[in-house]
Amino acid sequence: MKVDGKHYRTIWPSKTGQTVEIIDQTRLPFEFKIVELANLDDAVNAIADMLVRGAPLIGATTAWGIWLAMLADGSDTSLKQALDKLRNARPTAVNLSWALAQMSTALKPLKPEDRSAAAYARALEITENDVILCSSIGDHGSQLISDTHAAKGNDEPINILTHCNAGWLATVDWGTALAPIYKAHDAGIPVHVWVDETRPRSQGNFLTAWELQHHGVPNTVIVDNAGGHLMQNGEVDMCIVGTDRTTASGDVCNKIGTYLKALAAHDNNIPFYVAAPSPSIDWTISDGLAEITIEQRDHREISHIAGKLNNDSLATVQVVPDNCSTRNDAFDVTPARFISGIITERGICAANQRALSTMFPEHA
Ligand code: MRU
Repeated sequence: MKVDGKHYRTIWPSKTGQTVEIIDQTRLPFEFKIVELANLDDAVNAIADMLVRGAPLIGATTAWGIWLAMLADGSDTSLKQALDKLRNARPTAVNLSWALAQMSTALKPLKPEDRSAAAYARALEITENDVILCSSIGDHGSQLISDTHAAKGNDEPINILTHCNAGWLATVDWGTALAPIYKAHDAGIPVHVWVDETRPRSQGNFLTAWELQHHGVPNTVIVDNAGGHLMQNGEVDMCIVGTDRTTASGDVCNKIGTYLKALAAHDNNIPFYVAAPSPSIDWTISDGLAEITIEQRDHREISHIAGKLNNDSLATVQVVPDNCSTRNDAFDVTPARFISGIITERGICAANQRALSTMFPEHA
């Protein structure tokens, strides 16, 4: 995707061949800063502190973190340590453990001296493949938007509500939920996006609105509680969200607040789609509520909020009473019955075990 006319991905190996570069997402939208990851700990911290975030990008960063560890020391002990440290960086997005499994399978059979080159090759492959998967999701999803536009039968924009950030910043490029929107917009279909602010980390305000703006896609930020009201008033044609972990039966774990949007969409007969690249599907579980660990994050994300002051300087302010008790569940689970379809890289299918395993028979 382009930022001020220049094409960027969210992660790439640096020219020195010794480090990895990322966009520090904790500084957006106020500062565009590229940061270097020089070793395993930098990669672990970038994931845990959300310099990189979004399930597919967490997966790619995990793979590059293993490469950085192998570059320093390709021994069995170093590989085991790297797998363990990364495993604990963030618990919910399945792409992290998926990437660890991919790297482990590629590296364990090799001699220590061969591991760094092999890790680089596999991390690059995972990165490139993420772009291909997201682009395909964009193709399938934009067809859906185009069909909706044709059915509407006028030149009014298709109003799409999204939650959190499942755009190119959450992946290597394109995004998951936003890829169909970018492709529809580029094809000349009028679209307008309702962007949920997504408290507490404000991925909607800070990231989704920023990237849509840079691509020229009309969008409006709304508070997290406004979606239901807009749906009741006929101002939402469809919802598209991303996923951090989708079960084999189609339950979707995504950013906290997704479930309430799905309930409101269901009550108003508005299609609710989830864009899910296959590495975000956890084929080992089927009950999202019982089997997915929901990340609990720092209370400071709720008690404080960052922003720009009138004099353009940045500041963080407290927005609750002193000593206020808070609780910060970062994700929730939307049961499959509220999901109209899952947009995968192979096409769109119903959110149920049979449809998903027909789409991906190798996992059935
Ligand atoms: O906590 P985050 O910002 O990593 O959460 C991201 C989300 O919940 C996204 O909606 C989801 O990962 C899909 S990313 C394509």
